Amino acid sequence: MIGISKSFPGVQALSNVSFDLHKGEVHALLGENGAGKSTLTKILSGVYTRDSGEIIFKGKQVSFSTPRQAQLAGITTIYQELNQIPQLSVAENIFLGNEQERGFLIDWKTMREEATRLLARLHLKVDPRTPVSQLGVGQQQMVEVARALHHKSDIIIMDEPTSALSIQEIDDLFEIIRQLKASGVAIIYISHHLEESFQIGDRITVLRDGHLVTTRPTSEMTLETLISAMVGRSLSEQFPKEEVQRGAEVLRVEGLSQGDKLHDISFSVHAGEMLGIAGLVGAGRTELVRAIFGADPITAGKFYVDGREIRISSPRDAIRHGIALLTEDRKQQGLLLQMSVRENISLSVLGRLTRGLFTNRQVESDLAGKYIRELSIRTPSQLQQVINLSGGNQQKVILGKWISTAPRVLIFDEPTRGIDVGAKAEIYKLMNQLAKQGVAIIVVSSEMPEILGMSDRIMVICEGYVTGFLSHAEATQEKVMELATAHRGVEEQRNNHNTRDNQHAASSGTA
Ligand SMILES: Nc1ncnc2c1ncn2[C@@H]1O[C@H](COP(=O)(O)OP(=O)(O)OP(=O)(O)O)[C@@H](O)[C@H]1O
Ligand SMILES: [Mg+2]
Repeated sequence: MIGISKSFPGVQALSNVSFDLHKGEVHALLGENGAGKSTLTKILSGVYTRDSGEIIFKGKQVSFSTPRQAQLAGITTIYQELNQIPQLSVAENIFLGNEQERGFLIDWKTMREEATRLLARLHLKVDPRTPVSQLGVGQQQMVEVARALHHKSDIIIMDEPTSALSIQEIDDLFEIIRQLKASGVAIIYISHHLEESFQIGDRITVLRDGHLVTTRPTSEMTLETLISAMVGRSLSEQFPKEEVQRGAEVLRVEGLSQGDKLHDISFSVHAGEMLGIAGLVGAGRTELVRAIFGADPITAGKFYVDGREIRISSPRDAIRHGIALLTEDRKQQGLLLQMSVRENISLSVLGRLTRGLFTNRQVESDLAGKYIRELSIRTPSQLQQVINLSGGNQQKVILGKWISTAPRVLIFDEPTRGIDVGAKAEIYKLMNQLAKQGVAIIVVSSEMPEILGMSDRIMVICEGYVTGFLSHAEATQEKVMELATAHRGVEEQRNNHNTRDNQHAASSGTA
């Protein structure tokens, strides 16, 4: 790609960016939220058309006007938000839009055989007839890879592929990336987990504000030089944890259970305290915070706010008692994608802003301005539609929206997923500020350094049971992992007694 430029109304997303990719190479494309990474790859894959510049693919000048054209030519993108049809089977998804036909009939037999062959190549032990809705996110991603293989892609673009994967699934993905490399596929790899680029990247390209900063072999870069290339300055501290005086108990949960997912969970969190919840994927962390927020029904348990028992049977109840839940899932966050940044931020406090029948525009815009500044939301104006912001900046809008409701208890489920290093540090600072103001904070995170760095106390859960609490001082990665796997033995015993059920377990398990 030579001298690529692209502007959107009010934004110069890319200015004269050149990028090259070799056969059998993993090229990491990095930069802060809004730097232009997704835009560059979308120009390559026919989603956007460039304003200027050239694309040379296998020696020929090309220009794809749809993603389908690009895919047929050998360029496939695997997005974080998967574009599969959940009701259809694995095989059907692999062949989507490209069914094998024999006369007028779809040739299911050939399709299934080809699917089985592709899945075997990826070491994915699932029956091609399984609906993809029954697979975990990691396996769904593998199905996308199978689709890319089926199309004999020369280039596979992975835009934040690991953000929803477990450690095991990331290992599996890396193994597959190595295989793809070995067979000559070129991969563009976008991720905010910078250490991943060092693990599998051959070269790194950094973009900043739509400009090319550098392209270099991974071996010539360190984490420090990479971060300063990305943010244009060096970051003094990644986890600026501040000591905050712990206040009175704000929320107490007693004996919370939910079917066979959560078992007798009790804990409390105080004003100014940050409680981290750690555990492996599937341990029940998200189920737990959703239950506290009233998003899912519980089978037993009591909640107390300021020592008084309260009833939470819907998110409405939770919000009324000052409990806010910020989840990783942007689509379910109530972000109104077609509406502006300003409207989204002020939406949840609209009651407070409404005088008579009219929203007080000045107050609304001051509020939005404040959060755009504090969270460094990159947007050309308050009036930009949220759908046009980059992924990480959408996440920051959600954050602004919840913080503006002045909650007593703020629960974060994976708060920094998809957010760049600089903005992460800003979010941690903001958590500190909120803690100082007496907000009780609960953080669920799969990022161990984040949990260890920011929590005053860590509650570890495993298979729906609390297996221990660790203070900030005593917590180490090893101790957390030990507690996070403490119940494994129990589960394995249970499975061994259940061999008849194993067929399903084996086909849906992630090993
Ligand atoms: N369809 C669009 N309309 C208007 N602006 C857009 C559109 N797509 C992207 N932009 C803007 O272009 C810039 C680059 O966005 P892009 O999505 O490429 O960033 P990114 O590097 O992928 O960021 P992230 O890490 O947050 O995903 C941003 O300012 C974004 O708001
Ligand atoms: Mg992006």
